[in-house]
Amino acid sequence: MTRKAILTIDGKSIELPILQGSCGPEVIDIRNLHQETGLFSYDPGFTSTASCASAITYIDGDKGILLYRGYPVQQLVDNCDFLDTAYLLIHGEIPGVSEKEKFERSISSHTMVHEQLRSFFQGFRRDAHPMAIMVGIVGALSAFYHDSLDIDDVEQREIATHRLIAKMPTIAAMAFNYCRGRPLPYPQNGLSYAQNFLKMMFSLPSESYQVNPIVARAIDRIFILHADHEQNASTSTVRLAGSSRANPFACIASGIAALWGPAHGGANEAVLAMLRQIGTKDKIPEFIEKAKNKNDPFRLMGFGHRVYKNYDPRARIMRKSCHEVLEQLGIHDPLLEIAIELEKIALEDPYFIEKKLYPNVDFYSGIIFSALEIPPSMFTVIFSVARTVGWVAQWNEMMADPAQKIGRPRQLYLGHPERKFMRPS
Ligand code: ACO
Repeated sequence: MTRKAILTIDGKSIELPILQGSCGPEVIDIRNLHQETGLFSYDPGFTSTASCASAITYIDGDKGILLYRGYPVQQLVDNCDFLDTAYLLIHGEIPGVSEKEKFERSISSHTMVHEQLRSFFQGFRRDAHPMAIMVGIVGALSAFYHDSLDIDDVEQREIATHRLIAKMPTIAAMAFNYCRGRPLPYPQNGLSYAQNFLKMMFSLPSESYQVNPIVARAIDRIFILHADHEQNASTSTVRLAGSSRANPFACIASGIAALWGPAHGGANEAVLAMLRQIGTKDKIPEFIEKAKNKNDPFRLMGFGHRVYKNYDPRARIMRKSCHEVLEQLGIHDPLLEIAIELEKIALEDPYFIEKKLYPNVDFYSGIIFSALEIPPSMFTVIFSVARTVGWVAQWNEMMADPAQKIGRPRQLYLGHPERKFMRPS
């Protein structure tokens, strides 16, 4: 029997069904709240509100668990590559050999971008942030692929999905090279997804380039760890844009815009800047004090998370990977030592313990990226390449959901009541 919550307002009671997910907290269904009471609920930042039902990703923030379609992310990192993970997130199951081959073939057949799109890059200043280029170019894909814009056609949705997954690394590598004044690269489909991305990023027409397998594995792992994270700000943005029946390329461009912010995907860039600002281990206590000071806007970047009130499982994998990659590449980075010491001091500090602030995925990823010679401005771009898989999986799930409606939050209005027009003298 469905449990019910009773809400009593001015002596009148209404019953609200309590819905049960397969895991995690139960959810009070307030869809009839306004109809039955004339009232809205108020929840800025959605701290207590489930905006949709989803079967893709599950996070237990208290235990520090992240599951993609039921599989712990660590198991996927150990046993899969990124395209396995992409298939899993989109289709719900790990692909078999022939499904994987078919999926890979389809993705590699879409890696190039329309030749005319290449000229769009010339419109950007060379010192543009590559995320600015990503927002523009990915949105512009809508102008080139008219045969995958019909969102009611399942086949067209699938083509758009594959196009987005396939073209994101190409566009990201083009943005990177454009900002460096280098020729825009072309993909090479014989390579794996991660290898192809690295080749497009770093190879030059004048020199031969061999992808370092350690680097390719590290990038692939980063892609898996960033592939989806249920209803975060950028995914919710994609869903909200999609709920108005906007085309998939426009929806993903909106996700990229939301991801750019330093409170979300931009944090890894901010972590590295913070570690450089700290500079030496002896300065750490000073920055910890700044982070704790209510009157100082400084926050410990890469720390804290809306959902994780425990160690972010992705940060744990990233921390281990960081040590491995630096060791394998023979790199000594003093920033890693600062990060380890900063983490240690913060995790023993009552402020961080009380507020349950732990390192998140961004805390160590910047150090790995630096070891792979990827500049900070590209960190969020790489995040967006990986997260595109989550965005399209969530968008597809939403499009197939019969309960889907346009997203239209209400508000608590605090402005003027109606008043008569009067120009100030
Ligand atoms: N440093 C210092 N204090 C912090 C930090 C931090 N990094 N994060 C949260 N707090 C404090 C807040 O000041 C607040 O204190 P109060 O209760 O005394 O007011 C309390 O902890 C709760 O913080 P909120 O901002 O209310 O928590 P919220 O869930 O809204 O924010 C967020 C989560 C945005 C991630 C926040 O922890 C933060 O700004 N972290 C730094 C940026 C960052 O690393 N972002 C990456 C997130 S992971 C991702 O997007 C991939």
